[in-house]
Amino acid sequence: MTLRRWIAAGAVAVATVAALNVAPAAAGRPYDPTRQSLRDLAQRHGLHIGTAVDTKALADPADPRYRELAGSEFSTVTAENEMKWESLEPTRGSYDWGPADQLVAFAAAHHQRVRGHVLVWHNQLPTWLTDGVVDGSIGTAELRAILRDHVTAVVTHFRGRIWQWDVVNEAVSDPWDTPATLHYKGFWAEHLGPGYIADAFRWARAADPKALLFYNDYNIEAFGSGDPANDKTQFVYEMARDLRARGVPIDGIGSQGHLGTQYVNYDTFGVSAALKRFAGLGLATAFTEVDVRSQLTEGVRAGDSAEINPRLQASAANFGVLLRACLSSPHCLSFTLWGFTDRHSWVPGWFSDPPEGLATVYDENYRPKLAYQELKAELIYSGPPFVLPRVPQRPHR
Ligand code: G3I
Repeated sequence: MTLRRWIAAGAVAVATVAALNVAPAAAGRPYDPTRQSLRDLAQRHGLHIGTAVDTKALADPADPRYRELAGSEFSTVTAENEMKWESLEPTRGSYDWGPADQLVAFAAAHHQRVRGHVLVWHNQLPTWLTDGVVDGSIGTAELRAILRDHVTAVVTHFRGRIWQWDVVNEAVSDPWDTPATLHYKGFWAEHLGPGYIADAFRWARAADPKALLFYNDYNIEAFGSGDPANDKTQFVYEMARDLRARGVPIDGIGSQGHLGTQYVNYDTFGVSAALKRFAGLGLATAFTEVDVRSQLTEGVRAGDSAEINPRLQASAANFGVLLRACLSSPHCLSFTLWGFTDRHSWVPGWFSDPPEGLATVYDENYRPKLAYQELKAELIYSGPPFVLPRVPQRPHR
């Protein structure tokens, strides 16, 4: 950290606090930061706070609070499903841009940036594509051309309107997969080999010179053993280092941040260290899909506070760890929640045995939970010298 940056950061912080103090005081009310939105509080750090958006909920006139909060609390949005391949091109050659375009328009109306999710993933592919590969009517050369055309068409359609693209998502296996040694997994690696990753970044860059291009994955919040055979963060780190060394235009690493109160207890220092190591490769970072789920035991479902409260506390602690770590690295540009209310969360639909939920920062009736208050507190009470404004990332060519 240079002296100049410290001084500049201090000046920005003082000016921002002064500005925040002046406006409400002039309106005759003392300034109360707890009344500010997450997005306004994050702005002081140059950080963008985002959410994945369920576009059906956004359009539901019976659920106006969803739209209100999506527009007021967040400065970036991600389509939870509408930019995935099965949504955009359900029939070969025929794109349906409607729902994704509506979200991009919503973002523009609310002065929000958009994270594009996702160009290349093995899930939520259209059946015409997967069936064609299985029945042999789509061969390897054609598959590669289809992927190139898809990346090009989608990035071109949204050119200039997407801040960060998740270009490749979840390409790496987990220790519980077979074989246990970490490897490139899934549809694309199986049919095209791992070279598709570099290809996808190059095609995306050719279609939009300004968007930041991210690799996005889960379980890469902190380093483990340091052995890429079983430490997924290390595997992804080496992949990113290799892509950078070969001049592939990757700009960032997205760490999804799907945590559970029954799993690993991450600490801020470990998560912060991981973000800083990725930054050392010349990459931006972002938390892209943060939520912290819990098992819904009988006691939780019966409303027993002895079972509910420890989960709410653990959840808040985990949200806090990730946000604090992000704030600690000036290259961590955004912090996106994977949904903001338990009323609309992917978790209960996915984890039913045992049932899981309570994963977001507002309850089902849009009451802010402890996690929401702690995120706010973190944004309010952190600042220089250890938390500095974000360093903008320049897209690599
Ligand atoms: O669109 C159909 C709808 O027509 C139908 O009536 C309904 C009946 O089940 O299903 C709807 O599709 C569902 C879709 O979400 C939209 O709601 C799918 O069944 C369901 O599988 C799909 O789940 C999404 C999941 O990705 C699929 O992989 C979740 O909403 C979404 O939150 C989740 O997001 C992923 C990220 O993209 C990548 N990282 C992990 C994250 C969580 O799994």
